[in-house]
Parts: sequence; C-alpha cells; structure tokens
Amino acid sequence: MATQPIGKKTACVIGGTGFVASLLVKLLLQKGYAVNTTARDPGNPKKISHLVALQEIGDLKIFKADLTDEGSFDAPIAGCDLVFHVATPVNFASEDPENDMIKPAIQGTLSVLKACVKAKTKRVVVTSSAAAVSINQLNGTGLVMDEKNWTDTELLTTQKPPTWGYPLSKTLAEQAAWKFAEENNIDLITVIPSLMTGPSLTPDVPSSIGLAMSLITGNEFLINGMKGMQMLSGSISISHVEDVCRAHIFVAEKESASGRYICCAVNTGVPELAKFLSKRYPQYKVPTDFGDFPSKAKLIISSEKLIKEGFSFKYGIEDIYDQSVEYLKAKGVLQN
Ligand SMILES: NC(=O)c1ccc[n+]([C@@H]2O[C@H](COP(=O)([O-])OP(=O)(O)OC[C@H]3O[C@@H](n4cnc5c(N)ncnc54)[C@H](OP(=O)(O)O)[C@@H]3O)[C@@H](O)[C@H]2O)c1
Ligand SMILES: *[C@@H]1O[C@H](CO)[C@@H](O)[C@H](O)[C@H]1NC(C)=O
Ligand SMILES: *[C@@H]1O[C@H](CO)[C@@H](O)[C@H](O)[C@H]1NC(C)=O
Ligand SMILES: *[C@@H]1O[C@H](CO)[C@@H](O)[C@H](O)[C@H]1NC(C)=O
Repeated sequence: MATQPIGKKTACVIGGTGFVASLLVKLLLQKGYAVNTTARDPGNPKKISHLVALQEIGDLKIFKADLTDEGSFDAPIAGCDLVFHVATPVNFASEDPENDMIKPAIQGTLSVLKACVKAKTKRVVVTSSAAAVSINQLNGTGLVMDEKNWTDTELLTTQKPPTWGYPLSKTLAEQAAWKFAEENNIDLITVIPSLMTGPSLTPDVPSSIGLAMSLITGNEFLINGMKGMQMLSGSISISHVEDVCRAHIFVAEKESASGRYICCAVNTGVPELAKFLSKRYPQYKVPTDFGDFPSKAKLIISSEKLIKEGFSFKYGIEDIYDQSVEYLKAKGVLQN
C-alpha cells in the first residue's frame, strides 16, 4: 500500500460523478484532503470531465467501481481514514425496482462497508434520505419527524405508491448499513438530506434541480412530481447542496458525532413554496392556484440534532432559489 505523507488527511468518496458527491470531493480537496473517488465509467471523458477538472485543486485519484461488483471498492478505500458512501442507483421510471434499485443499493452498501472493514477505515458516512424517515400512514398536520423515525416499509411494499422503489431502496440500504456496522464494529454515521438544489458541477443538470425548480420552469410533469412528493413523504423539504456536503464533512470530522443526522434547511409544501417563488420571481409566472391540494404540509423533518452538534446552515430559502435561478440561466434553461 502506498503511504501518504504523515498528517495528510485522506478520504474516499463513492460515486464521485454525482450531483452531491462531486461537490463533496471539491470541498474535501479545498480542505486539504487527499481524495480517492469512484466512477462506474472512468473511461468516458464526458462523464468524468468535472472530476478531472477538480484534479487542479488537489490530490484526487479516480477509480473504476460499481455497486454491483463486490470487491471493486477495496482499492479506492484502502488507505483512507474517512469513507463517504454517496452513490445510489436512481431510476424513478423503473419497471423492476427490485433489481434496478433495491438489490444494488443494499448489496452496494454492504460491499463498501466490507471494504471499510478490510481497510480499517476510521469512520464511514453513508448518505441516506428523508425518504427513509418520513413515509408513513399518519394523518394530520404539524407532525415532527426526527432521527428515531423510519419510513414504513410495509406501506411501500404492500401499497406500492408511485416511485415506491426508491424510498424502499434507501430505507433498506440504510437499515442494512446499521446492522452490518454493529456486527462489524464500524464507526458509521448516516446523513439524511431532503430534496437538494443549488449550482451543480455535473455536465448535465441533475434531476433533483429539475424537480426543485419545476414551479419556475413550468414543467407540468415535474410539478406533479413535487405534489406526489408532498403526498407521499409529507412535506417539501429543501436544502442547498453545499450545506448538505458541509454537513457530511462536519459529522465525519466531529469526534462526538454518532448515529443518524437529518440535514434539511427548509420545510414547506407546494402551495406555500409557489407563493414565495411567485413573489420573488414574478417574471417566471409561477402557478399559485392548486385547487384543493393541501396547503399545509403534513410534517416537518427536524435538523435539531445536527444543529445541537454545532452545525449551522449557510443558506436559507432565498439563497437556495436565487443561486438555482442563476445556475439555470447560466445553463441556458431559464431566460432572464
Ligand atoms: N438529490 C437529492 O435531492 C437527494 C435527496 C435525498 C437524498 N439524496 C441522496 O444523495 C445521494 C447522492 O444523490 P445525487 O442527487 O448526487 O445523485 P446523482 O447525481 O443521480 O448521482 C448518483 C450517483 O450514483 C452513482 N451510481 C448509480 N448506480 C451506481 C452503481 N450501480 N454503481 C456505482 N455507482 C452508481 C452514479 O454514478 P455514475 O456516474 O457512475 O453512473 C452517480 O455518481 C444519494 O444517495 C441519494 O439517495 C439525494
Ligand atoms: C487511494 O488508493 C490508493 C490505492 O489503494 C491508496 O494507496 C491510497 O492510500 C488511497 N488514498 C488516497 C487518499 O490516496
Ligand atoms: C389516514 O387517512 C386515510 C384516508 O382517509 C385512511 O385510509 C387511513 O386509515 C388514515 N390513517 C390513520 C393512521 O388513521
Ligand atoms: C417517531 O418516532 C417516535 C419514537 O419512536 C414515535 O414516538 C413517534 O410516534 C414517531 N412519529 C411518527 C410521526 O411516526
């Protein structure tokens, strides 16, 4: 095993090409970490151009690995103090969620953790999702969900609501991670973000930005996706992607951190968000009439534990959307 200079901080980011992971790699390099990252297809220059560009900032190596290829994480993880497992298979249109998302998410998480055992990694941070916390049968408004709450997997498997495969894959993968970590004495932390937007380093506009910005771009299909999200998960909860990346590094470095951490800056619902956006960006003709669609979200997901640990969010709703609007303008998706 090649040795790092003494005192050099080392980290591995699994799935470096993604929206969240590519920014996480950048922030780690800026903090002086030497970073190994993985991609399924490092031979495709178009898919990794934004990672190659980050090699200007610091010591970044790109490895080929796949969640379905057990053992492919051993080399990148060897010699890293911290491991961030961010990758997950996402395919909302899948007709076979079991094989497209659920199995590879669980097996991939276990492959990563097995490599961490071999490498004696100091701490592992797994990116989960609010979709693993807030989906339940409860009715009402004003519910508060925290790290003790888990999505009702039975509801997802028996009722199969639209997009059920993704939340089920995230919930089962996180549960498998906790079980494996306990059995193998791994110092595991999970970060639980909600919908993210904000400028992206990726060559293409990430689908979560498309979703979060749909009220502004006027994409009917995705506006319905937002409504579906509120109905299924109980709220529209949003964060700036940079805050979520900062939270990953914060819990990785903070000695006293343990367990799950919800990381969500803003809790709202579609009608309330639309009202805010329509006022702030009158030029985009944001729809504000949602008929009898519930104007109050059923629940909020609370980041109190993360904040008590000492983390503070840098961006509120104004910055989140101002920066996303500027980003989409720069991408030519939005006009002035
Ligand atoms: N974006 C959100 O709003 C949001 C909200 C809550 C939670 N999250 C969680 O945050 C994490 C990152 O999400 P994101 O938005 O950054 O996703 P993304 O941009 O779609 O990136 C997904 C990443 O997963 C990798 N991946 C997919 N299947 C893989 C496989 N079989 N083997 C190896 N890598 C695979 C992709 O790698 P390739 O480039 O090689 O295909 C890509 O790097 C995920 O765990 C997601 O569940 C995201
Ligand atoms: C990256 O992977 C290589 C090969 O396993 C290893 O020698 C090195 O210590 C790893 N970590 C970093 C940050 O380079
Ligand atoms: C919530 O409301 C739905 C629809 O009205 C109903 O089917 C369900 O049983 C209720 N759930 C609880 C826990 O009361
Ligand atoms: C969240 O979990 C706590 C502790 O298990 C439980 O008391 C509470 O009812 C749960 N809340 C919801 C909305 O499921």
